[in-house]
Amino acid sequence: MIKSIILAAGKGTRMKSDMPKVLHTIFDKTLVGYVLDAVTGITDENFVIVGHKAELVEKHIQENYSNSKCILQSPQLGTGHAASMAVPFLKDFDGEVVILNGDLPLITANTIKEFIEFHKNQNSDVTVMSAIFDNPTNYGRIIRNADNTLNSIVEEKDTTPEQKEVKEINVGCYCLNWAKIKSVFGELKTNNAQGEYYLTDIVKWANDKQMSVNAYIIKDNDETFGINSKTHLAEASRLLNQRVINKHLENGVQIIDPLTTWISPETEIGSDTIIYPSCYINGKNKIGKNCKIGPFAHLRGDVILEDNVKIGNFVEVKKATIKSHTNACHLSYIGDSEIGSGVNIGAGTITANYNPLTKVKSKTVIKDNVKIGSNSVLVAPVTIEEGANVGALSVITKNLPAWALALTRAPLRILENWVKK
Ligand code: UD1
Ligand code: MG
Repeated sequence: MIKSIILAAGKGTRMKSDMPKVLHTIFDKTLVGYVLDAVTGITDENFVIVGHKAELVEKHIQENYSNSKCILQSPQLGTGHAASMAVPFLKDFDGEVVILNGDLPLITANTIKEFIEFHKNQNSDVTVMSAIFDNPTNYGRIIRNADNTLNSIVEEKDTTPEQKEVKEINVGCYCLNWAKIKSVFGELKTNNAQGEYYLTDIVKWANDKQMSVNAYIIKDNDETFGINSKTHLAEASRLLNQRVINKHLENGVQIIDPLTTWISPETEIGSDTIIYPSCYINGKNKIGKNCKIGPFAHLRGDVILEDNVKIGNFVEVKKATIKSHTNACHLSYIGDSEIGSGVNIGAGTITANYNPLTKVKSKTVIKDNVKIGSNSVLVAPVTIEEGANVGALSVITKNLPAWALALTRAPLRILENWVKK
């Protein structure tokens, strides 16, 4: 059995935010959400240590992660103190405990799996995840003995000038043989530059007790990115986006400009689809083959596009299913909709899905081969049956029968020589 402790109680002062650090998001998913998603399927139970604005973090975890329990740490006296909060809950647990900083959104399930495998293969009691950085500033340094075995972890503020030069850093992910290590939590001290209980002191403690202590050096440094500021958040977002884009390029999706294209990790895209520059694709979506998206398209999640669909410039789509060979090429909003195949959505069409008085959202259903004229408003709930046509500039407030034509615009009047007169 494997359990995890996620450290998420810190304020994140450097974020300069009213919101707790771990509730900041990348593609609408929280930082702590990324960590919990990475351990889900590996661990049997997760304990999330909450503190700063605990009620907000707890609500988020309760609503989204049923296999995770929150534990309050108040006041917050350091990472070692945070982890110790889980001791009464883990009690005589006899297995591995993985401890992770809650601000590591780029860590992957694969790496955590390999890390635990390594821990088991080495018969390790304490395993820390490390990385080699050209610029190790602000990270805890991994200090090794002359024979390359692990000695200790020293925080930046506690380093000697010589230790500052060390380029191997502590990622903030640990694997512990719980039965052997749990007693450390009664013995941590605060005799350091920050006056905190450092979780990192377990390395020295276990060494002093002749236990097996090892470091697993991570392969992809990007995964170690810990978020401490909004600058870090922006950099991590770009790294995550790049990872997603690379995957789609390898799968045969054409992405014209990876630098201005944003695609969430939960979006699937079929081969030969072309994504034009400056698209923002957020949330969970499934895009078929041979589609054309953008430039400047916005998919907001829960969008399913069958093959050969065109979503053009300045088109926003949310919670909609669109069948094959349907086009919405310009300046439209499509939300809460079910659209058939062979449909043409004229420029400027709006599905009016939201009633701001009742706050109710309603659905628009458009059947196969319907043509919607430019600048029309479809006021939901509404169904346009097969083959019907809507004239340009119409406001549709009733269901349309199959093959009908609907018009609501005033008839055109031409007043000859009106300007001269
Ligand atoms: C920590 C490590 C450092 C490592 C770095 C990696 C320690 C002492 N240092 O430093 O070696 O290189 O992470 O990013 O562990 N937290 C709590 N309660 C507390 C304090 C912190 O839950 O009382 C949580 C924070 O919310 C955060 C995590 O622990 O998610 C790490 O805390 P942070 O302050 O970011 O530690 P670093 O200084 O980055
Ligand atoms: Mg940190």
